[in-house]
This record gives sequence, structure tokens and C-alpha cells, in this order.
Amino acid sequence: MERTFLMVKPDGVQRGLIGRIVSRFEDKGFKLVSGKLVQVSDEQAKHHYAEHEGKSFFGELVDFITSGPVFAMVWEGDDVIALSRIVIGKTKVTEALPGTIRGDFAAHTPFNLIHGSDSPESAEREIANFFEPGELLGYQKTIDSWI
Ligand code: TYD
Ligand code: MG
Repeated sequence: MERTFLMVKPDGVQRGLIGRIVSRFEDKGFKLVSGKLVQVSDEQAKHHYAEHEGKSFFGELVDFITSGPVFAMVWEGDDVIALSRIVIGKTKVTEALPGTIRGDFAAHTPFNLIHGSDSPESAEREIANFFEPGELLGYQKTIDSWI
């Protein structure tokens, strides 16, 4: 069983898409283990996007992600890291297919609505950057054995 860090970016919050984005992952059968609205600090943003430091788009990315509240979440499920990135869609909006969150709702990179961890190591670092261990709730869903 894996956990991943998903975050509705400021554009998704501003556009009123939190509910529809959360629904995509509920529909898929994943389990929400935490979620909260967060105003990301500069330091937190730089830690979150540390792998992109030095790239041409880094400054713009940090400015964007700190420009307003985000909805930070932790989700759990078998292969949730890879599967949630399929639900999210490709990074560049010109490559994101219909049926994915970015393909259906995003029209400009980097305003691509949602972040998802890309590996177990990233997920662990990103979850720790936003959540205390006690905020992650372990509970049983009655349909767990069916999905
Ligand atoms: P990245 O981690 O490569 O994409 P993803 O969000 O799909 O994991 O990049 C982080 C964000 O940086 C991405 O969502 C949008 C922005 N970005 C750009 O603005 N230009 C770029 O060329 C790339 C690669 C990313
Ligand atoms: Mg990434």
C-alpha cells in the first residue's frame, strides 16, 4: 500500500475545482488520509520543488505556488503514485489528454491545476513538508476488499 502527496494548486482553488478534483480520486477508489487548505511559504515552496532549482521556470513556479492557498492532500492505495499521475495527465497542457484532470481543465502551463508525487522518495519528502504524522488518518473503508 502506497501513499502520495497531491495538491490542488492556487489556480484550481481560485477556479473552484477542489471538489471536482477530489472526486476524480474518490472515483478511482483511493483513500483520502488527510487534506487541508494551506498558504505555502517561500521556503516550503522551494523545498517542495527542490528538484527543479536552477531551471528556467523555477522562479515562476515558486511565485505561482505561493500566490494563494493550495489544497494539500495525502492519498493511499495500491500503486497510487503512478495511477494518480495518470489521472492527473501530462505536465504540458498541450500534451494532456481529455479524461485527465489537466486535459479536461487546464489550458496554460504552469497553471496545470494539480501536483502529484513522482516516486516513493518524493512522496515521503513532500508529505513531510506539509503534514505532521498525527494528521495522517489510518482507517478502514468497508469496500477496501473490492477495489
Ligand atoms: P514537473 O515536476 O516536471 O511536472 P509535474 O507537475 O507533472 O510533476 O514540473 C513541475 C511544474 O513546473 C509543472 O507542473 C509545471 C512547471 N513546469 C514549467 O512551467 N515548465 C516546464 O518546462 C516544466 C518541465 C515544468
Ligand atoms: Mg513533478
